[in-house]
Amino acid sequence: MAEIEQKFREVNHVELKARLLAVGVGEPTVHEEIDHYFNAPDRDFARTGEAFRLRRVGKQNYFTFKGPKQPGAVKIRSELEFPLGEGDEVAGWHLELLRLLGYREVAQVRKIRTSYRLAREPFEVHICLDEVEELGAFAEVEVLAPQEQAAKAAEVLGEVAEQLGLQQVEPRSYLSLLLAARAQSHLSTPKVVTTVRELRQALDEVRRQHLTIGFVPTMGALHEGHASLMQAARSRNDFVVVSIFVNPTQFGPNEDLARYPRPFEADVRVCAERGVDLIFHPSPEEMYPPGFRTYVEVTGIQDRFEGASRPGHFRGVATVVLKLFHQVRPDRAYFGQKDAQQVRVIQQMVRDLDVPIEIVVCPTVREADGLALSSRNRYLDAGQRANSVALFRALQTAQKMYHQGERDPEVLKRVMEQVIAGTDEAQLDYAAVIEVDSFEPAADLSRPVLLALAVRFGETRLIDNLLLG
Ligand code: PAF
Repeated sequence: MAEIEQKFREVNHVELKARLLAVGVGEPTVHEEIDHYFNAPDRDFARTGEAFRLRRVGKQNYFTFKGPKQPGAVKIRSELEFPLGEGDEVAGWHLELLRLLGYREVAQVRKIRTSYRLAREPFEVHICLDEVEELGAFAEVEVLAPQEQAAKAAEVLGEVAEQLGLQQVEPRSYLSLLLAARAQSHLSTPKVVTTVRELRQALDEVRRQHLTIGFVPTMGALHEGHASLMQAARSRNDFVVVSIFVNPTQFGPNEDLARYPRPFEADVRVCAERGVDLIFHPSPEEMYPPGFRTYVEVTGIQDRFEGASRPGHFRGVATVVLKLFHQVRPDRAYFGQKDAQQVRVIQQMVRDLDVPIEIVVCPTVREADGLALSSRNRYLDAGQRANSVALFRALQTAQKMYHQGERDPEVLKRVMEQVIAGTDEAQLDYAAVIEVDSFEPAADLSRPVLLALAVRFGETRLIDNLLLG
C-alpha cells in the first residue's frame, strides 16, 4: 500500500471542525499517540528518507516503516504498519530489543489526534487534527491506496484539502519539525578549540563515554549545503565536530586563498543552529608547523578534471583531510556530492591507507533555480548569478537525453558544452562524462557515470555534477 498524505500548518481547529461538519463527516475518534522514532545502525534514515517508529496509541503498540518519499508535491511513500500486542510491558520489550540491535532513538513525537473519515469513492480520506507537543496545531489529510492508484488518490486528497480551505502545506515530518525546533531552542554555542591538544582533550572525554563521533570538515563560509552535512551527522552520531579551516595547501598560486570568505561568527551560529558540539578552528601554523614535509597523493585520480585545472589541489585536500581524520578520529565523516572528485579522492585514500572511518556522501543542496550551493556563489554579481543556472541546465539537458536513450558519452558532453557556449559570460573549463570508479572519461554508458562541469564567470569558478545510472 502507498500512503498519500499532506500536512498543513497554521490551522485553526475550531474553524476546521465546522467545515468538516459541513462536508458531512461522522463522529471523530480522539486519542493520544506517542511515536518513538529510531535511526538504524546500518544506514541513516535522515539520508535515505525512510522512517521507522514504534507508535503507541493508548494501550496498543505498532511498528511502522515508511519508505523514501517519491518526488512530487504530495507526499507518497510505501508504508508497512503492524500491531505488536498491547500494554506498557510489550512496548518496553520492543524498545529494549531495538536498542540492543543498535537502533538509536532520535526523538519522541507526542500528539493528541482527532481523526475524521470522509468517503470519496473509491477511497476513504482520513482528516486528522493534530495538537503536537512543542509544535502546536496541524492538520493532515491522508489516503491509503494501492500503489497503482496513488496518482488518483493524490488528486482526491487535493480536492478535499481545497474544500476544507487548507492552504499552508508543511512538507516536513513532525520529527524534522521537532528536531529543528529543539535545535533552535537549545541554541547553546558549541565549544571552539583552536589547537590539536585542546581538541584531543575534549574528544578523549567523549570517547571515554563510548559516544560516536560524526565529523564535518569545512573551510567555513557555511551555507545550507554544509548545514545538511551537520544535520546528517547529528542524526546518526552522539557527538558532532565541525572543522573550519581555510586550507592553504589546496589553493594554487593564482587562486582565491586571500579573498576566500572567513565569516567566523556567522559560521558559529550555523553550527549552533544545527546542534554541533565542537568546532575545531586551527591556525595555518597549527596545521602546518615550520618544517612540515609530508603530503598525501592519490595518484591518477588527483590529476584529472579538477586536478588538471587546479594542479596540487587534491594533494592539499588529501593531506589536510588525513591530518584532520587523525586529529578528530571520528566514526563517520560527511562530505557533499557536489565535490564529487574530492569525495572519490578521499574514498580512495581511506581505502588505501586503512583509515577506519565511514565516509558518508550527502546529496548536493541547490537554490530553487538549481544552482548548487557553494561558498564561492557569493562572488557572483547579479548578472553572473542569473547566468550561473546554466550549469544545472546543461547537466539536466544531458541527463534528459540519457533517459531518452542516448548512449554516446561524446554526445552528452557536446550538448553540455553547447548549453554553456550559449550562456553570457560563461567560460567553459571542462564538460565531462566520467566513469565513477576509475574517474577516467567514460568510454561508454554501460556503468554509472558522472556528468561534470566546471565553468568560470569572471574570476569565479563553479563546479557541479549529476550521477547517471
Ligand atoms: O570541501 C572542503 O570544504 C575542503 O576541501 C575540505 C574537505 C574541508 C578540505 O579542506
